[in-house]
Amino acid sequence: MSAIEKIREKAKLANKHIVLAEGTEPRTVQAAAMIRDQGIARLTLVGPKAEVEAKAAEFGISLHDIEIADPATDARTEKYADKLYELRKAKGMTPEQAKELVTKNTLYFGTMMLKMDDADGLVAGAINSTGNVLRPALQIIKTAPGISVVSSCFIMESPKTEYGDDGLLVFGDCAVIPNPTSDELAAIAVASAGTAKKLLGMDPRVAMLSFSTKGSAKHDNVTKVQEATAKVHEIAPELNVDGELQADAALVPAVGALKAPGSEVAGHANVLIFPDLQAGNIGYKLVQRFGGASAIGPIIQGLAKPVNDLSRGCSVQDVVDVVAVVAVNAAG
Ligand code: ACO
Repeated sequence: MSAIEKIREKAKLANKHIVLAEGTEPRTVQAAAMIRDQGIARLTLVGPKAEVEAKAAEFGISLHDIEIADPATDARTEKYADKLYELRKAKGMTPEQAKELVTKNTLYFGTMMLKMDDADGLVAGAINSTGNVLRPALQIIKTAPGISVVSSCFIMESPKTEYGDDGLLVFGDCAVIPNPTSDELAAIAVASAGTAKKLLGMDPRVAMLSFSTKGSAKHDNVTKVQEATAKVHEIAPELNVDGELQADAALVPAVGALKAPGSEVAGHANVLIFPDLQAGNIGYKLVQRFGGASAIGPIIQGLAKPVNDLSRGCSVQDVVDVVAVVAVNAAG
């Protein structure tokens, strides 16, 4: 069974209620029917009711057992606007702005459903940018207790089974924090290890990547990774982490033994932490394109309740799979 097949099975058992905040978007509407038919999650589509129904009719899809929440007429809209104003007034939001956002912007309405415990998770991004999807979540849902920062990771499934766990690896952060501090890098490592465990049942071996291995080069960028590694040891002493390591020292046993003798992680890493977003984003795309790996993500980690972005080029099946990821993440 592939990683995503296992995640779909876990989602069915979790039986969570997920909000699809772009309820009139064609791929989302088609995915909703598949998610319901396969029992992956219970769903709410957010959007103008007549438009959601028209879109479903266009594809010959029945919306039975799928809730539609129309912000213009929903009984909860007033309550959500009051709560949003309450949460954001210190940041300068007026009651009128809160009402406008909740009524007109389905991302804000959907995020308020999560905040008010009317749903367990949210998926959007087929027609909105990463920033537009994440901003309401960062402002309203905030980080989980004890987590300092929201970040992301990708599940990479490579045909090269000599790497990671039979070709299965987790890469972080490839989508959210452009230039993490050493503390933020440590938080990314801990969160990515947690995601590897929770979604895939992995026993994480975490490599903090750099262009240097164990002091072979000296530079401020290397120091940042060394400091982050020390911080991970401090905040998650049980975690099997090592750094700084070059990618070959992290992945290839012979190189790891040569460059980082005695390390339990070097040569056997299954979680790779990139030093910044440029490296992480470029890195996962190269592994995907040149290495023939499938990439599942970005999986957003660290929020108090799961919200996940879709790629704007996503397929109907991608929407189904991201909903499955969010449902498993919502399972606590
Ligand atoms: N963790 C926790 N909170 C955060 C984070 C974070 N990583 N980033 C921002 N916040 C909070 C801020 O504290 C602030 O809260 P407040 O308003 O209550 O004070 C709020 O979110 C908004 O902060 P801004 O600094 O205004 O954040 P902004 O909205 O500009 O950006 C974002 C946040 C969207 C995540 C930004 O970091 C970003 O654009 N990252 C890159 C996304 C991207 O383009 N990725 C590459 C493409 S994805 C791909 O290729 C698969």
